[in-house]
Amino acid sequence: MRRILVMNGPNLNLLGVREPGIYGDVSLETINARLEREARALDAQIEFYQSNHEGDLVDCLHAHMGRVDGVILNAGAYTHTSVALRDAIAATKLDVVEVHLSNVHAREEFRHHSYLSPVCKGVICGFGWKSYLLALQGLLLDGRC
Ligand code: DQA
Repeated sequence: MRRILVMNGPNLNLLGVREPGIYGDVSLETINARLEREARALDAQIEFYQSNHEGDLVDCLHAHMGRVDGVILNAGAYTHTSVALRDAIAATKLDVVEVHLSNVHAREEFRHHSYLSPVCKGVICGFGWKSYLLALQGLLLDGRC
């Protein structure tokens, strides 16, 4: 059975109450429940991790090296700042899909650059909580995963 890890970075534990005009009113718990249901329908195992700390996210990638078939990663603000996360993705050779609820390219200029995109398998943004669903479907419908 294929295994997928969903990782969320800083402030995403506050989804549902955090700037709902930008990120929507669905909590991370609800998003994860919806992903769990979709994973089951697609015959895959899924696990979840959230941290507000950069090093913990790096550790999580290391711990899953060779152990999952794909990773869905919303690194939040670390997307735009973290060389360490980029290096961890490259080092672990995990198939990572970068996701964002908002369309980062339609927002402030500092959100237009991602350190992670060049080492990711794909990028999905702008579809609200469904960005995660599309990433899951993208990974599982891709024959390589
Ligand atoms: C985000 C976009 C980032 O720029 C921001 O720092 C976040 C959330 C998104 O999902 O739209 O925390 O990753």
